[in-house]
Amino acid sequence: MQLSNVRAVITGGVSGLGLAVAEHLVAHGGKVALFDLNDEKGAAAVAALGQAHASYQQVNVSDEAAVAEAIEQAHAFLGGLNVAVNCAGILGAGRVLGKEGPMPLAGFQGTVMVNLVGSFNVAKAAANRIQHNDAGPDGERGVIINTASIAAYEGQIGQAAYAASKGGVVSMTLPMARELSRFGIRVNTIAPGVFWTPMVDGMPPAVQESLAASIPFPSRLGKPEDFASLVAYILGNTYINGETIRLDGATRLAPK
Ligand SMILES: NC(=O)c1ccc[n+]([C@@H]2O[C@H](COP(=O)([O-])OP(=O)(O)OC[C@H]3O[C@@H](n4cnc5c(N)ncnc54)[C@H](O)[C@@H]3O)[C@@H](O)[C@H]2O)c1
Repeated sequence: MQLSNVRAVITGGVSGLGLAVAEHLVAHGGKVALFDLNDEKGAAAVAALGQAHASYQQVNVSDEAAVAEAIEQAHAFLGGLNVAVNCAGILGAGRVLGKEGPMPLAGFQGTVMVNLVGSFNVAKAAANRIQHNDAGPDGERGVIINTASIAAYEGQIGQAAYAASKGGVVSMTLPMARELSRFGIRVNTIAPGVFWTPMVDGMPPAVQESLAASIPFPSRLGKPEDFASLVAYILGNTYINGETIRLDGATRLAPK
């Protein structure tokens, strides 16, 4: 798919990795609809990207009906829909058995609802629209890209909920790609290592430095543009399908 033809919904699109994807796609002639909960950042993102190229909708991705409705509105704004990029996510850190006692189920559920169920809600609603597109080269009608984490493979202490939610994202990638292949819709997932985004910005400098030092090469935190460039590569290469790609400078997370 050519980036200039991209009509994309991007969740978590007003911050960090999602915003970098929006910037990259718009810079290459695409159009984006951003779904997020942060109205202030949403307005700033649209102002920076240009109202002709970007829209913002307040959507909680864990709300099935709201997502379905928002996809229809995005389709109208974009004049079509052929890409969905799931970047909305929360850390949901907490121990299974902490000082305060066992983790409340609501905490675990909340993380899974946003990271896993939210990605599912957006993927199915987007696919429902994308299936009606005219087929392009290779029979392609659209692409769905999810964001997992290397915590799906090496979750740290305190990441039981986060790792479970991201592991679910990794695990649904192949069956979704297999199923949607008959519509010409590809499904892939990116599993980022440690990236420099507002999620990491709030950590103490000493923690940020030790994180960077633990990354083999290049020994720095990932830049949101590194992520956006992989999204663009996946969009451009029709043969990448049903795969989760680690993007982590060979990082392997330690237990803590
Ligand atoms: N930054 C990292 O190091 C890193 C590493 C691995 C994976 N990830 C994943 O990448 C994705 C993007 O993370 P980021 O670092 O850009 O974080 P970020 O906090 O900058 O952006 C996440 C965005 O998602 C939005 N969001 C949260 N809950 C939502 C909901 N229920 N509905 C709609 N929007 C919601 C937030 O408002 C925010 O704007 C997340 O899924 C995260 O888990 C990040």
